Amino acid sequence: MTSIQEQLKELNTTAVNAIASTDSLEQLEQLRVKYLGKKGQLSQILRGMGKLSAEERPIVGSQANVVKEEVQTSLEQRKQDLLQAEIEAQIKAETLDVTMPGVRRPLGRVHPLNGVVDRVLDIFVGLGYTVATGPQIETDYYNFEALNTPPDHPARDMQDTFYLPGGNLLRTHTSSVQIRYMENNEPPIRIIAPGRVYRRDTVDATHSAVFNQVEILAIDRGLKFTDLKGTIKVFLQRMFGNELPVQFRTSYFPFTEPSAEVDVQWQGKWLEVMGCGMVDPNVLQAVGYDPEVYTGFAAGFGVERFAMVLHQIDDIRRLYNSDLRFLRQF
Ligand code: DAH
Repeated sequence: MTSIQEQLKELNTTAVNAIASTDSLEQLEQLRVKYLGKKGQLSQILRGMGKLSAEERPIVGSQANVVKEEVQTSLEQRKQDLLQAEIEAQIKAETLDVTMPGVRRPLGRVHPLNGVVDRVLDIFVGLGYTVATGPQIETDYYNFEALNTPPDHPARDMQDTFYLPGGNLLRTHTSSVQIRYMENNEPPIRIIAPGRVYRRDTVDATHSAVFNQVEILAIDRGLKFTDLKGTIKVFLQRMFGNELPVQFRTSYFPFTEPSAEVDVQWQGKWLEVMGCGMVDPNVLQAVGYDPEVYTGFAAGFGVERFAMVLHQIDDIRRLYNSDLRFLRQF
């Protein structure tokens, strides 16, 4: 054996061993350059070929080819192994343990007041009503005058409110939405208007200076008091339960004639829950409707009152305190 053959044999063994023990692709590339590169060990060994005899040369040449192929094969094999290991490591790192406890995200709840409004809207939308809204800062005209309540009307006493510079006021009821809506729409009208209202009231267990109302208005040809009664009865029964006894008691509101208050039989007593009536002809006239052609009914009630009755809440202030121990019960 020529010394070149020995060198080739040795190169073969060391290269294959070194390749087998590499554990990165960069190292592998370095080894390829070291053994098979242009200036690598194989090239260097083969430079000695010139000194060989004509018979030796093809033998050594073919041995060199075998060595080169073997080294290349182990390089390729190792490369595949390392790539495979890399993929496996990645898969392992990305594995999810689905049995691990999750991160708990606290879930909010619907506030009892919004819950009542949602139910009311659902019922009336189901009866064909459209939701309407109006501003909380109102003019005297929309809040009182157009609702048949002129400046010296005694009914204003019950709805004393907060006046703003410039003559505006915080609306005392959602009835102002009736006027705004009728001004901009022609009959037939069926609206339901929820919203916040204000009164100059001393706060106690059943009064708040800021509270919420829902207004109902229907205007059409030939609407009668029985339509009002039927609508209110259906509404209250869907709200409070089917067997609920309901009674209409005569009352007075400037913007309705006749007017009534509605009581429900709740836990053994009659409980007043809303005001209602046939829209006063003066109100229809104020928005340019002909009271000889159109009639209508209206109703309004306090959302807090409904929530208190439905959920047996003893103090209205609980609805505003944002106490989570209270709110989580709904
Ligand atoms: N606006 C009245 C109040 O706040 C409630 C009311 C009574 C509304 C009769 C109406 C109605 O639409 O017809 O006390």
